[in-house]
Amino acid sequence: MPERVLTNHELARMVDTNDEWIVARTGISQRYIANGRETTASLGTAAAREALDIADVTPDDIDLIIVATSTPEHHFPSTASLVQDALGARNAGAFDMLAACTGFVYALSIAAQAIQAGAMNTVLVIGAETLSKIVNWEDRGTCVLFGDGAGAVVLQGSDSPGGVLASLLRSDGSGGDLLKVPAGGSAMPASYETLRDNLHTIHMNGREVFRFATRVMADACRDVVAAAGLTMDDVDVIVPHQANKRIIEAAARGLRLPIDRFAINLDRYGNTSTASIPIALCEAVSEGRIRPNDNLVLVAFGGGLTWGATVVTWDVTPKATVTGLHKMRRQALYSVARMRSIVRRGARAIEGTIWGAQAPDGIEPPHREKD
Ligand code: ACO
Repeated sequence: MPERVLTNHELARMVDTNDEWIVARTGISQRYIANGRETTASLGTAAAREALDIADVTPDDIDLIIVATSTPEHHFPSTASLVQDALGARNAGAFDMLAACTGFVYALSIAAQAIQAGAMNTVLVIGAETLSKIVNWEDRGTCVLFGDGAGAVVLQGSDSPGGVLASLLRSDGSGGDLLKVPAGGSAMPASYETLRDNLHTIHMNGREVFRFATRVMADACRDVVAAAGLTMDDVDVIVPHQANKRIIEAAARGLRLPIDRFAINLDRYGNTSTASIPIALCEAVSEGRIRPNDNLVLVAFGGGLTWGATVVTWDVTPKATVTGLHKMRRQALYSVARMRSIVRRGARAIEGTIWGAQAPDGIEPPHREKD
């Protein structure tokens, strides 16, 4: 997580709001905010390294890296490619998943299906965000909600029963305007006007998104659990997208489940978009709240509009013995990866100086006459 915490009280000194309103309407008390050095890729890389340590997997074992994010570092290269380089995952493909806050559920589903189809064996799925960089800090309707952070999981093929049992992915693009960053894409490239009018920040119709979210959360849970051949009574923990405590409470009422069946940590993190489910999931696992063989439902909604849910039977494979030696080896591999990346950049620069604009096969580029 980023080092800096921003409390509601501090926020109230920046914008016309107060702790009572934010807690009562959202359940959020504080959020983490990235500093100048922390980026979506660096937070994602840190989360990925923790996940690799816990799973005792080396970067060379990874076949695919998916970074679900609403705040990629660039249009391209993908944030996933930057993470791949930082990890030194030489055998991995990498791409970003853009489905707003539902991105992690989408990515998990795609990863599981790639493994089930036999095309991959080890997939790293990351949710990473620096939403503070696209928030309008003068808009109290949105800036109180969002936070920065990252979480990651490693998926591996296994003969043990369990894993991802079923997924449900949905979209309704007719609601795209309810939650969007209007400018910066090809529809509205950056210009003086887009900067002046704050169009590179999150614009949201909060009430409509709230109504949509409360409508889809319970239905998505019910449908995906049925698709997995289970009933709601079989579900041990629901890990919902952490957007607003009232939305989660409405889902609990809709499903007639006690609220303590839900893993909730948004009071400390705010809405971290694609990162919210992996952060809550990892926290619940490390607190011992999620145990091997538990049935989980991960459920999310977000811009697009998109929503989705997945049923997971938590890992029942015996835990790997992660020795200090293994961790040290991985640290050494990250240092080698950093060196390799620097050397590659240098070699590319030297190659460019030697060959200039000449095509690699020795054919000169066509000479163009000046008009
Ligand atoms: N502090 C104090 N007052 C505020 C604040 C604030 N931060 N924000 C709004 N208000 C005021 C409004 O101006 C309004 O005042 P008025 O009645 O005098 O006009 C009043 O509070 C009520 O405003 P509402 O917008 O009706 O408040 P609501 O109870 O709907 O809560 C909220 C707003 C928290 C944004 C809620 O609508 C919500 O959570 N919506 C869903 C948002 C969401 O989940 N978005 C993430 C999607 S995920 C993704 O893809 C990024």
